[in-house]
Amino acid sequence: FPQRPLKDFHALVTAGPTHEAIDPVRYIANHSSGRQGYAIAEVLAELGACVTLVSGPTDLPVPPGVERVRVSSAQEMLAACEAALPVDIAVCVAAVGDWSVAQVADEKLKKLGGAPPSLTLKENPDILATLSKAGPLRPRLVIGFAAETNNVLAHALEKRQRKGCDWLVANGVGAGTNVFGGQRNRVTLLTGQEEESWPEMSKFDVARRLAQRISDYFSSLSIK
Ligand code: C5P
Repeated sequence: FPQRPLKDFHALVTAGPTHEAIDPVRYIANHSSGRQGYAIAEVLAELGACVTLVSGPTDLPVPPGVERVRVSSAQEMLAACEAALPVDIAVCVAAVGDWSVAQVADEKLKKLGGAPPSLTLKENPDILATLSKAGPLRPRLVIGFAAETNNVLAHALEKRQRKGCDWLVANGVGAGTNVFGGQRNRVTLLTGQEEESWPEMSKFDVARRLAQRISDYFSSLSIK
């Protein structure tokens, strides 16, 4: 991209799973690979944006031209995102754990032959909703992802409203879709004006198409 249409733009991307500690050796996590978010960060950087990638634990290499901040829990991810503000664009792709353990044990929990321990969970902060409601620090374009197993569009429409983001990228992750952890994705982009279903493509092609839409959006505003 010789003309680098997103030059002078700062973008924040969240990616990967979170790990919520149970004790010093155990955690609650999910199957997110981080691939979709890393691809988006990489393509935004190719378009010239200054990209901060706040990433949960993954084995993926840092994409060229991207500044990566590694975090573990949802709470740390929120703090790293807030520290990256102000940004023009936020793309929340991370599969943030919904709950964390209310009282993380200081020592490894022991199997003492009695009843198994029970864990009390507490709700994690919603990073996408927090960024969408960040007042004067709100990014100009906030994009969320919605991985759903059923009624994908209905849930996505509701989620866009509830979280207050501008665009929502909805995808089905039900049994047999192989999206979580896989290389390909099939998404619908909800912008509030349009509802666009894209054919199945690689996560990189989803990233390219989304980044192009972001760049077109800002050139249509032509404020910057
Ligand atoms: O509610 P749900 O987890 O399905 O919402 C998905 C969207 O919200 C994704 O963009 C995800 O990155 C974001 N999210 C978040 N913080 C949370 C939960 C979800 O940023 N605690």
